[in-house]
Amino acid sequence: MYIVGNWKMHKTAKEAALYIEAILPQIKGAAAQVYLAVPFTAIAATQNSSIKIGAQNMSDALQGAFTGEISALMLKEAGASFCLIGHSERRHLFGEGDELILRKVKTALTQGILPILCIGEKEGEEMEEVLEKQLKGLSGTDGLMVAYEPVWAIGTGKSAEIDHIQKAHRFCRKFLGKKVPILYGGSVSLENVAEIGAMEDVDGVLVGGASLNPDSFAKMIHQLRKRK
Ligand code: 13P
Repeated sequence: MYIVGNWKMHKTAKEAALYIEAILPQIKGAAAQVYLAVPFTAIAATQNSSIKIGAQNMSDALQGAFTGEISALMLKEAGASFCLIGHSERRHLFGEGDELILRKVKTALTQGILPILCIGEKEGEEMEEVLEKQLKGLSGTDGLMVAYEPVWAIGTGKSAEIDHIQKAHRFCRKFLGKKVPILYGGSVSLENVAEIGAMEDVDGVLVGGASLNPDSFAKMIHQLRKRK
């Protein structure tokens, strides 16, 4: 089982280092594999031996005249082992489209950064139709993770219903095969993480707001059991 925290635009490098100091003693012996997607400036400050550290976005290009962008090589050298790609906020607030996102996934794969591709429909959209479009070009690819995050469940305190999650994950599983871990994200909390994590086709969770406090995130981590 995987639990990935996404800090979004929270925590300076100093705050991030204090968080790591606080959480490490609390997660000893946890069954889940813990990942944290931190701001670029906190990647170096959060290096440690138990939590994998990654970024929240990267360029599809390897280098060049792309002001304000960051490359896979830069991330790797700073200590990132994975990168969220195509997060709903990148798609909807920053206009990233499926083609660019697919290129980013491919760049991450060739550059040795584990891509965690984020997908999900907006309110009122047909789930399978949207997921099929967002996964286009990836059938048969492995070496990545996928996070299903319905847009209406992000930051709203209202996670998707169990049946809906199961249906979406089953669809992704059919499309991607058994080797690609599929995580659920969208208002995952201490209250619902055990139930969501126990679902058949859920290999882990992607947690936004509830990952910001080290004490409660540590408690969430301990709610996840090893898969039999
Ligand atoms: P919340 O857990 O705050 O709903 O955010 C989900 C998310 O966007 C994680 O990537």
